[in-house]
This record gives sequence, structure tokens and C-alpha cells, in this order.
Amino acid sequence: MQEQLSSLLTKASAELQSIRTRPELEGAKARYVGPNGEFTALMKQMGSVAKELRPAMGKLVNESKGRLQALLDAKLRQIEESELAARLGPPIDPTLPSPDLGPGTFHPLTLVREEVCRILRKVGFVVADGPEVETEFYCFDALNTPPDHPARDPQDTFYFPPAAQFGNVSRHRPGERYLLRTHTSSVQVRTMLKGPPPIRIVSPGRVYRRDTSDASHSANFHQIECLYVDRNVTVRDLKALLDYLFEALMGPGTKTRFRPHYFGYTEPSFEVDLSAKHLPKVNKEWIEIGGCGIVDPEVFRAVGYDPEVWTGYAFGMGIERLAMTLYGIDDIRVFYQNDLRLLRQFGGAI
Ligand code: DAH
Repeated sequence: MQEQLSSLLTKASAELQSIRTRPELEGAKARYVGPNGEFTALMKQMGSVAKELRPAMGKLVNESKGRLQALLDAKLRQIEESELAARLGPPIDPTLPSPDLGPGTFHPLTLVREEVCRILRKVGFVVADGPEVETEFYCFDALNTPPDHPARDPQDTFYFPPAAQFGNVSRHRPGERYLLRTHTSSVQVRTMLKGPPPIRIVSPGRVYRRDTSDASHSANFHQIECLYVDRNVTVRDLKALLDYLFEALMGPGTKTRFRPHYFGYTEPSFEVDLSAKHLPKVNKEWIEIGGCGIVDPEVFRAVGYDPEVWTGYAFGMGIERLAMTLYGIDDIRVFYQNDLRLLRQFGGAI
């Protein structure tokens, strides 16, 4: 029996040598230590061993069993290691210089957004945020934009199906329809409803319109909104702030001009044009950059502010338009095409 044990071990270790895969190992295990295995058969012979030899024999069988199990375990570890190595691929040298392009840069839209916020923070504005999914109240009703206003037409605005629910977007009235905000002006309303004046906020963010994409239109783009509410705010304060902002952003020599316009939420309202002839590639004297005005008393009423006490100005402008003017980019689509050349040419650090 002793010989049988040792020749079985020799045979097992030779056979295990050539095994490479788990199914092969399982087969070998069954052949040796399974219920019908060769080792199991030997153990069954213990009963026929003479009584006085049994203790020594038992010890020997146990040792052999341990050795066989150790061989099987070692093989399993070897298979696991080679499976892992196959998953990891060829070894690498982590001390070699990195093959990547080095640190990344910020997108030009991010650069402009952050720069505008930085300039406005210097004069006391704080950044306010609002949801991109909005309700009709915040986007239109509270901004004195009646249901028949063209901006609310489904041709211009993305509405959600009536059954849509957004637990994280509070509705002013139950059952109000959800939409993708068409402008950042909705943040004015959300901010005013949170607390009393004075208010001085800047709110950058993404907005959505049902526009067909071309060199100057995109179904989603970015705006920056500003709202200032205090006592005795005049158009002069508004003009002074915009002059300061654009001169800081685009350099000395930048001018602004107001053209009368209509927005439901401001009275009087203006469109703002920018003159920055010193910038390369600016070939027009005046570039339309946004809208602004003195907050309409109706807006104050909608948020519970007394329009006899409080006055304010607001303005909103497109970040893409600003970036295109600053960098001399003539097609809005390049901002969204994930072409690294845009980042190499215009990206930068903050
Ligand atoms: N919300 C307007 C737009 O998307 C821009 C605008 C106009 C914002 C006048 C304002 C404002 O705050 O007072 O075209």
C-alpha cells in the first residue's frame, strides 16, 4: 500500500504538470480524490490492513492526502495567476514617461463663464443655481409672460409629457407642466422666492430651445443671468455694471449700447450691443450680446416683493456669443464637437 501511495503521488504530480485550465484540473481532482477517485479507492483499502499496522498506515495515508491536496492547491493558484495575467495584458513599466497629453485644459465656454462670474463677484454678486428642467411658472408665468406669448409655443420650447415627474424640481402649483428652461431668467424667480431683497446674483447655466442647428443656433446653449434688487436702482446702474463687465472681460476700448426692446419681465427693456473693434476678427461695429432692463413690477408682485419699495435690474446673455466674439470663432457648433483641436487652440487654465 505504501508503494501504491507513493506511485500514485508521482503519477498525480506528473499529470498535474501538464494541466493549464480549470476544467482539466476539475477532471484530475475527480480522478484522484472524487468519490470514485484512485486515492479514495486506496483509502477504502485501509479496512483490510492488519490491525497493528493501521496507526502507521493511517499516518502515511494522511500525509499522502495532504501532499496531494497541496499539489492540487498549487495548481489552482497557478491557473488563477495565469488567468489574471491574461486579463492584465503585457507587463508595463510604470517608471516610463506618461504617453498621455499631459494636463488638460478648460473648455472656452467654461473659461468665459468663470471669468464673467469672477468679474461680477468682485462687485458683490454671488453665484445662484437653478434646475434645467423647469416649470411654466418659473420660466414664464412669474416673469410676466402670458400663456399666449410666442416664447411658450411648443414650436420654441421643449415640454415634457404631462405624466413626467421630477422629484427634485419643485412645482409652484400642483399639476404644472415641466419643460426644459428656455432661459436662465427662471433663476431670478427661484432666488427671489427664497428670501427678501437686497439681491445680487449671477447665474450661469444651460438652456434649451427648439432650434435647428446651424452656424449661429443650437438647441442647447448657455446663458448668464444677472439680477440686482435694492432700493432706487436705475438704468444708469445697469449701464454702469455692463460697461464695467464688458471692459473687464474684453479689454479697454469695449463699449456697450442699449436699443429699446420688449421683454415681459422688464420695463423699460433693452437689447445690449457690444463694440469691441480691437478684438481680432470682429468686423462689425456692434454685436448683439443680450437683453436687459428694469425689473417689471409684475415680477415683484409674483414673488411677493412690494414694487413700491423695491427696484431692480436684470440682464441675460449668451455665453457662446461672448466666447465667439472673444476668440474669433464663427461657428457655434465647434463648441460641442469634442474636437481636441478646439481645446488646444482656445482652452486654458483658470
Ligand atoms: N431671457 C432673455 C433671453 O433669453 C434675455 C434677458 C432679457 C434676460 C432681459 C433678462 C432681461 O434678465 O432682463 O433672450
